[in-house]
Amino acid sequence: MALKWGIVGVAGIGASHAKALKDFEGVELYAACDIVPEILEKFCEQFKIPYRFTNYEDFLKSDVEVVSICTPHFLHAEQSIAALEARKHVLCEKPLAISVSEVDAMLKAAEKAKVKAGSVFQHRLDPPVRTVKSLISQLGELVRGLYECHHFRTMTYYRQGKWRGTWWGEGGGVLINQAVHDLDVLVFLLDLPKQVTARVGNWGHEGIEVEDIATAVFEWENGAHFAIHISSVASGLPTRLEITGNNATVVMEGGNVKIGRYSTPLRQFLKESPEVWASPKVIWEDVPIDTSMPYRHGDSIRLFAKAILEGGEVPVSFAEGAKSLELVNAMILSHFSSSPVSIPVDRSAYDALLAELKEGKKKLR
Ligand SMILES: NC(=O)c1ccc[n+]([C@@H]2O[C@H](COP(=O)([O-])OP(=O)(O)OC[C@H]3O[C@@H](n4cnc5c(N)ncnc54)[C@H](O)[C@@H]3O)[C@@H](O)[C@H]2O)c1
Repeated sequence: MALKWGIVGVAGIGASHAKALKDFEGVELYAACDIVPEILEKFCEQFKIPYRFTNYEDFLKSDVEVVSICTPHFLHAEQSIAALEARKHVLCEKPLAISVSEVDAMLKAAEKAKVKAGSVFQHRLDPPVRTVKSLISQLGELVRGLYECHHFRTMTYYRQGKWRGTWWGEGGGVLINQAVHDLDVLVFLLDLPKQVTARVGNWGHEGIEVEDIATAVFEWENGAHFAIHISSVASGLPTRLEITGNNATVVMEGGNVKIGRYSTPLRQFLKESPEVWASPKVIWEDVPIDTSMPYRHGDSIRLFAKAILEGGEVPVSFAEGAKSLELVNAMILSHFSSSPVSIPVDRSAYDALLAELKEGKKKLR
């Protein structure tokens, strides 16, 4: 019997979930749910989906076994938890939720339901990212890093939906929507830092409440520093990531990866060099990128389906998907409190801030 798959929220990314699964063996596109009947009808006709619902509770009462959550961010927690309580497997689009306290509730519900619960963070699969991941163990102890992430978005983009660009609907701007992918890549490579100090702002989007520019310093236990700069207002800049370890530096830029290996580890050279102005020699090497593994958005959905059908780990679990949100919330909290924020983020402090932002008691502009 094929796995009965359902999709909630079908106007945008929901179609990518349907396309990814329509010819996938072992899966049947069984049901769809959307509050806009015309969009729902068109979608179900296109993908030949037999069961259609404009009410999410009714959708969950159906025989659907897996739910793809493809609705706006503010619905992710509530709809995921309801699906988990109905014992459905859940694949939730990024970001997993708006706040880390919502994610805590999602994790609890997933643990109780004993089903598969995953988030969609397909950029972990990107061949250059995988290549960097395979090099991390060669870098040695983390020293420093730098990450430039730009995702230009016009005001027309924000006018596509009322939920966009608002604290209530998105829970943030470029950080939670676009750069959450970059932050996910960062935690995939280096895991969470212990402390975050950040500034966020709105430089150029007059019609939205949320940030379009952000800069942070992440610090790890051993004293390593990592600087990240994010915007949706700068154009023409490639994503650039540098990670330096005691033994080598890796650089990822424009889909290319190179590694520079030090002739002597940095700590040893600092301590033992008899020279005043010397530094370790670096030998740079371009690293070939293996593109043979699946890496697109659709692949991440099919890998989740495979984990249900064959057993095994989902590509990005709820616990993993939650980590980028920890950084998003930490950056916003650090800005508004004008102080460093420890990880894990203080849940009640962030909830109180988010409530004030939603009510307009605190503002960026
Ligand atoms: N993984 C990725 O790269 C990626 C790419 C795009 C979007 N996304 C994520 O997917 C989510 C949706 O984004 P989008 O661009 O498709 O948004 P969208 O606004 O285009 O589509 C959302 C759909 O949800 C429906 N909807 C709203 N409230 C609903 C409710 N209560 N019940 C059922 N349906 C409801 C809307 O009618 C609409 O059809 C976002 O969280 C976004 O971050 C992820």
